Amino acid sequence: MNNEKYDQKSLINVSQQTQEALQQQIEQQRLVMAIAIRIRQSLHLNEVLNTTVAEVRQFLHADRVLIYRFEEDYSGSVVVESVGNDWTAVLNVQVKDDYFMETRGEKYRQGGFQVIADIYTEDLTQCHRNLLSQFQVKANLVVPILQREKLWGLLVASQCSTSRQWQSREIDLLQQLATQVGIAIQQSELYEQVRADLKERKQAEQKIREQAALLDIATDAIVVRDLHSQILFWNQAAERLYGWQVHEAIGKNADEILYKEISSQVELARQNVMGHGSWQGELKKVTKSGKEIIVESRWTLMLDELRQPKSILTVDTDITEKKQLQTQFLRAQRMESLGTLASGIAHDLNNILTPIMSSIQMLALKPPHLDTRHQQILKILEDNSKRAADLVKQILTFARGSESRGVTLQIEPLLLEVEQILNSTFPKSIKISKHLPTQELWTIKAEPTQIHQVLMNLCVNARDAMPDGGNLSISAENLLVDQNFARMNLDAQIGPYVVITISDTGFGIPPLVLERIFEPFFTTKESSQGTGLGLSTVIGIVKNHGGFVNVHSEVGKGSQFQVFLPAVEDREKQQAKNFDLPVGKGELILVVDDEAAILEITKTSLEDYNYKVLTASNGIEAIALYAQHQEKISLVLMDMMMPSLDGLTAIRILQEMNPKIKIIAISGIARDDQFVEAANAGVDAFLRKPYNIYDLAYAIHNVLSQSIQ
Ligand SMILES: Nc1ncnc2c1ncn2[C@@H]1O[C@H](COP(=O)(O)OP(=O)(O)OP(=O)(O)O)[C@@H](O)[C@H]1O
Ligand SMILES: [Mg+2]
Repeated sequence: MNNEKYDQKSLINVSQQTQEALQQQIEQQRLVMAIAIRIRQSLHLNEVLNTTVAEVRQFLHADRVLIYRFEEDYSGSVVVESVGNDWTAVLNVQVKDDYFMETRGEKYRQGGFQVIADIYTEDLTQCHRNLLSQFQVKANLVVPILQREKLWGLLVASQCSTSRQWQSREIDLLQQLATQVGIAIQQSELYEQVRADLKERKQAEQKIREQAALLDIATDAIVVRDLHSQILFWNQAAERLYGWQVHEAIGKNADEILYKEISSQVELARQNVMGHGSWQGELKKVTKSGKEIIVESRWTLMLDELRQPKSILTVDTDITEKKQLQTQFLRAQRMESLGTLASGIAHDLNNILTPIMSSIQMLALKPPHLDTRHQQILKILEDNSKRAADLVKQILTFARGSESRGVTLQIEPLLLEVEQILNSTFPKSIKISKHLPTQELWTIKAEPTQIHQVLMNLCVNARDAMPDGGNLSISAENLLVDQNFARMNLDAQIGPYVVITISDTGFGIPPLVLERIFEPFFTTKESSQGTGLGLSTVIGIVKNHGGFVNVHSEVGKGSQFQVFLPAVEDREKQQAKNFDLPVGKGELILVVDDEAAILEITKTSLEDYNYKVLTASNGIEAIALYAQHQEKISLVLMDMMMPSLDGLTAIRILQEMNPKIKIIAISGIARDDQFVEAANAGVDAFLRKPYNIYDLAYAIHNVLSQSIQ
């Protein structure tokens, strides 16, 4: 029984002890956690280490706690320390310990630790003991701080005043804290690394932003595209130059939006940049609105990290204006030297003409010897040598730069004269005809010799275009240029003009040649037959007279040159024409044109002549409007050249909707192929831009009155 009691008592004791131990363990665990949390609160290594030594010293009541950090060669130094006031600080003290340097701390690296209760009773080497006493250590506890597999340093707790029996839970605690410190060190290193990366990235971003800003300030268009021509970068200057906003341009195909067609020059540039890494030269490009521009273009091949071609950088400078000025300048220069040359020739010609003219006059004084036919020839001879003399005078004034003001000139006698010259000098295979209007032609203010020269140049060209013969027709008419007309022809001013038209049935002018015929020295003739100055003289003279020239030509059919010369104002006669104009009966007309200004003016003009008007700015809109108002629309006025859906396609669709639809086709280009197409499509009439309200009113009236029959 007693025994039993005793046993029970001891049992209770034991369980009490166990409980206490357990309690202590829990307590310690809690402490480790608390310290660990405090250690881990900071991401800065120094703070982590300082917190650790302070916390440990407080908990262990040790005289000194320090952290020792190894270098690569296993020497090391004290990096942080918490030490009581009575003891010498050893912070930053460097140690080159042979033991560590030889073993590379292997014992500690494997998780070993060292417990010394008293350096004088413990079995230590003298050298070790000396080292410890140097640090005023009596009792020492050392645990490793590991970084993954590597020995980073040591966590050391020392008693300096007395020896000390270290408890196993104290050792345990120190080990656990060292592990926490290891983790915290790793974390802070990671953090430092991330911070450095971040800083680097921020700096890089800043640099990129600065560079991007620079790219946008640049006045050159800078574009980057990948090897499939897809646009990756587009700066503000590119927006300005090409008209595409950055969000419209990115992702688009550069070949499609920047070129009308991929020329051999572009192909060459591409081959060069792929082969040699760069290319430089002039290119023709096109803006969003379709305007052609010339750029000085520099291409550079961009490589990726593996030095493989990645993209192409292009820098474009707009030189369109420069080019134009250059040609103008060259032309002016050529004209100037030509002027000098001409005045020299003129001077000599004068000397040659004088005896010719006096000889003719002498011959003319003896009419009895000559029959009428010869007298006529003599007359032509006399008239033309006079004209030659005039011309020489003209060249001299022109070369000296003074401008004669011209006289009031009637067109009819001038045309008659030209006709006579042609009849007697052109081959008989060329049939010459002249058409004048029934009403009187307005007068112009001009230099007769110069206008004569214009007409002769045009007629000679017509003759040259018909080596196997054909028809040459000369006609003239009055034309009142109104807003409609002026909008469609930049050189035209609102007001009265006289139009002289020279048409031939010759071989015609292909579009590529047509673009250049007015350039000085441009000729398709052999050098013995043409200088290429005829038409540039024509345009020069006509412009001097405030006029302009229009050309229409069709290969294989012939050409038509129209010379527009401003007429002397004559209000009465102009108004007389107004009375003749047929007016509408309130019919509804659908006008289709992509140019807003033309739509607007055509609408108001037609409304003035008692028509009702609907407008559409493209083919699709026109079809939609027609579908809606088909019953009421009497006539469609269709421009043939429009973006999105061209006139011809629109006409076909409209005709399918209503086979009896009345359509007038309009074209603005000098070539006639579009009219041919329109004719094949079976439209009721054509009108060529520029037209005025009279042309328009008559065309509409004619088509509508046909439909009444
Ligand atoms: N009626 C026409 N028919 C066909 N082509 C023409 C016609 N008029 C002009 N051309 C073309 O325009 C070019 C330039 O004409 P231009 O009158 O300026 O020079 P040219 O006739 O060649 O030489 P020049 O008039 O100085 O003797 C001609 O070479 C020709 O190709
Ligand atoms: Mg010529």
